[in-house]
Amino acid sequence: MPSPLEELPDGRLTRAGVRLYLKRDDLISPEIPGNKWRKLKYNLTAARAQGHRVLLTFGGAYSNHIRATAAAGHYFGFATIGVIRGEEHLPLNPSLDYAARHGMRLVYLDRATYRDKMSPEVIAGLHDRFGDFYLLPEGGSNAAALRGCAEIPGEISQPFDLICCPCGTGGTLAGLAHGLGAGPRALGFSALKGGQFLARDVAGLQREAFGASPENWSIEHNFHFGGFARRKPALDQFISDFQARHALRLNWVYTGKMMYGIFALAERGAFPAGTAVVALITG
Ligand SMILES: Cc1ncc(COP(=O)(O)O)c(C=O)c1O
Repeated sequence: MPSPLEELPDGRLTRAGVRLYLKRDDLISPEIPGNKWRKLKYNLTAARAQGHRVLLTFGGAYSNHIRATAAAGHYFGFATIGVIRGEEHLPLNPSLDYAARHGMRLVYLDRATYRDKMSPEVIAGLHDRFGDFYLLPEGGSNAAALRGCAEIPGEISQPFDLICCPCGTGGTLAGLAHGLGAGPRALGFSALKGGQFLARDVAGLQREAFGASPENWSIEHNFHFGGFARRKPALDQFISDFQARHALRLNWVYTGKMMYGIFALAERGAFPAGTAVVALITG
């Protein structure tokens, strides 16, 4: 730490008058990369300070957050419980297999109960079953997570006008925007179809964590490629081409959609000439 900042030379951006820098949070750690580490850092500190020995969190069967929480428990000395949406499927997929190999106890909630997972009744039921635990929400986005993400802009010494990140729950964007000084703005790229609710969630997370929601951020909704974890040939082609040009493999759930969006906006002249953009590579 801090994660590296690299300029990305690309003729398409030069023609559009845009300079692009990559904030390589994907290089923070192979097992707890990117926004996972940013979000877990102050949660692990809080869990330890409060005397907890167990972390409990929620996720789908392919959740990166589940995987990263298992790794964090393994390396930082917490037992972990992963509450997974839906039924158990054996053999475990690679994400859950990784989590189990790193000591995570996997339990399953039917989809209806899972929808209510943060209700006092469901949480009380989990305490009855598992005793004391430190609760991390799905995706890890809570006030402590936002504080971790808010540290990112402070690591960037290069002046910039705009910082971009992908959005799933909006926690990364919420923290990032809070950490900006006067001047630059933050732009989130929704990885979800119909993610218009994200703006309300981001503002709510900011108010909960910091008491206010500044107006220095916005969300792009036009680069979801059909919805969460959906892809289209144009996205696959962009990711392969980007890898060939820049030797960096973007993931098609989050960072690939953001980067496609940044290039599309630049090429259609959405950024004034001379704009310096930072793209946060979240994983
Ligand atoms: C690589 C990556 N980027 C971005 C996100 C979305 O972050 P957030 O949920 O904070 O919007 C996730 C999901 O947590 C992720 O795994």
